[in-house]
Amino acid sequence: MSFHTIEQAPGRLNRSELAIPGSQPQMFEKAAKSDVDVIFLDLEDAVAPDEKEQARKNIIEGLNDIDWGNKSMSVRINGLDTHYMYRDVVDVVEQAGERLDLIMVPKVGTAADVYAVDMLVTQIEDAKGLKKRIGFEHIIETALGMQNVSEIAAASKRNESLHFGVADYAASTRARTTIIGGVNPDYSVLTDPAADGSREVHWGDMWHYALARMVVAARANGLRPIDGPFGDFQDQEGYKAAAKRAAVLGCEGKWAIHPSQIELANEVMSPSDAEITKAHRILEAMAEAEAAGKGAVSLDGRLIDYASIRQAEVLVEKAKQIAGN
Ligand code: GLV
Ligand code: MG
Repeated sequence: MSFHTIEQAPGRLNRSELAIPGSQPQMFEKAAKSDVDVIFLDLEDAVAPDEKEQARKNIIEGLNDIDWGNKSMSVRINGLDTHYMYRDVVDVVEQAGERLDLIMVPKVGTAADVYAVDMLVTQIEDAKGLKKRIGFEHIIETALGMQNVSEIAAASKRNESLHFGVADYAASTRARTTIIGGVNPDYSVLTDPAADGSREVHWGDMWHYALARMVVAARANGLRPIDGPFGDFQDQEGYKAAAKRAAVLGCEGKWAIHPSQIELANEVMSPSDAEITKAHRILEAMAEAEAAGKGAVSLDGRLIDYASIRQAEVLVEKAKQIAGN
């Protein structure tokens, strides 16, 4: 290990994160009763300009009056380039700061953006004597944000997670996208002709680089990497495939832009019973190996070593977190 220790963000369960427009308060109660881990009430892109003020009021009222159970509650504020953002922070934190766990900052471009929001939130928390420190979730969804993702990840002690905002990222990078979070058949490899002259088209994942880059920046700073939206909520298989790709790269969760996606995210982002059993067996086998003075042993015909312990511990910890939820 490096001499540099990585401080981990609070261990919040974040397998699924449901987006609810602040302008649709009739959706709040149902969301509160769902199985989602985190809810973000949106003031940004799902809310039309002339509804922003009312949405803010709805969110403040909803945070204060609804029983959200043990869900983590977040509010997505407007971007720092708008004139809505300061009042989003001031009004929501001043009037509903006690129930707010997180602030989601969209289109973060530089570390200074994070600093600015931190300064504002810190002043309000101090002035109001709020006990709980509000955390930050940042959406990496512009070319600038991706370029500066490491500095953004390290910019505040409040930082908890980085989210891949694939829709805006596509707009910002001018990627040729078809549906939000989906893949494009043009991003594919054509195999060389086989003996009979036939060729195969192998689809690729056009988001791989961006997501992997964000995961590294998040983990190097002790933050949770979270995959963003998948727009076609009728396509459950497509959603699951996207969630699995994200999970394989190290993401801990994925957005749900429709309630039907919550269960899918929770399923993909939770370790299976077989994985948990295997993790326990690895820990037991390694404990025995250590007692026998060995650093590596074989389990089920495969090598395991101290790295296997770390992976197994992460898994067991996650399972405990889910069980205790
Ligand atoms: C989310 O905000 C996105 O742009 O994908
Ligand atoms: Mg966006």
